[in-house]
Amino acid sequence: MSQDFAGLTAVVTGAGSGIGLEVVKGLKSQGATVFGLDIQEGAMSEFAQYVKCDVGSSESVKSAFAQIAAKTPVIDVLVNNAGIGAIGTVEDATEDEWVRVLNINVIGMGRVSAAAMPHLKQSKCAAIVNTCSLVATAGVPKRAVYSASKGAVYALTLAMATDGIADGVRVNCVNPGTSDTPWVKNLLAKANDPDKELAALQARQPLGRLVSPVEVASAIIYLANPAQASTTGTALAVDGGMQGLRIPK
Ligand SMILES: NC(=O)c1ccc[n+]([C@@H]2O[C@H](COP(=O)([O-])OP(=O)(O)OC[C@H]3O[C@@H](n4cnc5c(N)ncnc54)[C@H](O)[C@@H]3O)[C@@H](O)[C@H]2O)c1
Repeated sequence: MSQDFAGLTAVVTGAGSGIGLEVVKGLKSQGATVFGLDIQEGAMSEFAQYVKCDVGSSESVKSAFAQIAAKTPVIDVLVNNAGIGAIGTVEDATEDEWVRVLNINVIGMGRVSAAAMPHLKQSKCAAIVNTCSLVATAGVPKRAVYSASKGAVYALTLAMATDGIADGVRVNCVNPGTSDTPWVKNLLAKANDPDKELAALQARQPLGRLVSPVEVASAIIYLANPAQASTTGTALAVDGGMQGLRIPK
């Protein structure tokens, strides 16, 4: 395994499960010191130092970064991955749901990034990678609030990448298709016919299967790697071809 992240410090939100957990595993195996921020420790203990943090709360984010700063002044990599879903059309959505999802998925990303910036600015190879989604660039049924949040994440990525030039901070995002994580497993468990729902999710991705969380993590780690010094303001699709390809049936 290459040691491209040896001597570097990474902070990953939503590190206890799914994509975030694979990111902390990958970064650790490539030499990084990793802090995992999450509302629950999940399975990260072997790979990251757990810092309890609700990205939906300013106080919680402030306290998490104070704990990290007490251990290291410099952060080299920030992976803004924590996020929650919401199912339904715009008619189904409640005010509470709008506020909850945008607060965690969008404002949470902003408050974590702001808290990390003073530490990222001290790095010689600072990189932020945001977990966005295919739904930022393609419409899928019954994901109105969630899609709005990820559209905002994409726009925020571009804005932060622009501002980051002056500070030497690269900012990119990954756009996963449906990925085989505990999140999707929970979603399927709630479906009327889970097998039929899984088959439909697999079929809508041209490769005919769900994306693995390791594949998404690998793209995040690629974008975070100091070797990608010329890559900023990009969205890397990891979606089994779903955004770009049209396959005749
Ligand atoms: N799974 C997919 O199909 C898919 C597709 C596209 C994008 N994504 C995005 O990938 C990211 C990770 O999703 P996943 O599938 O790995 O989900 P997951 O549910 O397996 O993991 C998400 C993690 O985020 C944590 N989290 C939730 N709310 C939080 C909060 N307020 N503060 C801190 N941590 C919090 C959870 O505790 C959990 O450990 C999300 O941003 C999601 O929108 C997922």
